[in-house]
Amino acid sequence: MRTAMLAGGTGEWEITAVRPVAGPGLDAAARLRVVDAALADHMAGAWRLDGIASNIRYATAREAADLRAVQEGLGRPAARRAVLIPIAKSPQWWALAQDERRHIFEETSHHTAIGMDYLPAVARKLYHCRDLGQPFDFLTWFEFAPEHESAFDALLLRLRATREWTYVEREVEVRLSRP
Ligand code: HEM
Repeated sequence: MRTAMLAGGTGEWEITAVRPVAGPGLDAAARLRVVDAALADHMAGAWRLDGIASNIRYATAREAADLRAVQEGLGRPAARRAVLIPIAKSPQWWALAQDERRHIFEETSHHTAIGMDYLPAVARKLYHCRDLGQPFDFLTWFEFAPEHESAFDALLLRLRATREWTYVEREVEVRLSRP
């Protein structure tokens, strides 16, 4: 299913901050909603980003099983904070072969191993958009309880210090809150 992240005047999530991390940011808006893209066509908004939840690319069977054993789903009542982080990687990244990308992603950067330290407090969902003609390659989405926000910030610092992140050429943090 193609999902749309629609920023504008209405939506379940209040946008508390829009922070450009690398490259151009996104316009400020009051609220954000996550909807089926087919429904978003008739909705007005400040900006819209589309993505598709897809199959895994890099996780091994063992890593996927380890993740399934600890991760929790979206929509937990206590998870009143969310962060949408759209990311685009460089042409150098996309010119690499699959095995080279996997090697940088996990054996060098330990993306999954680092991320596991923050589960199950942080729930996550990854949408792909590189092949949709979108300005980003990925829409990453995270939900957690307010008391885990500082742990999430620590996770961001660790990931951004990795070799994988040297290939990130555009990244924006959209911080969200719901009552
Ligand atoms: C909460 C802990 C996290 C865990 C457990 C985690 C785990 C994973 C895993 C297993 C994948 C690979 C999926 C596949 O096999 O295709 C992945 C991909 C990805 N994650 Fe994370 N992640 C976490 C946090 C983050 C954060 C905070 C960000 C952004 C700041 C992020 C950005 C990405 C991106 C952009 C991809 C796609 C990479 C690519 O295909 O090139 N992740 N993550």
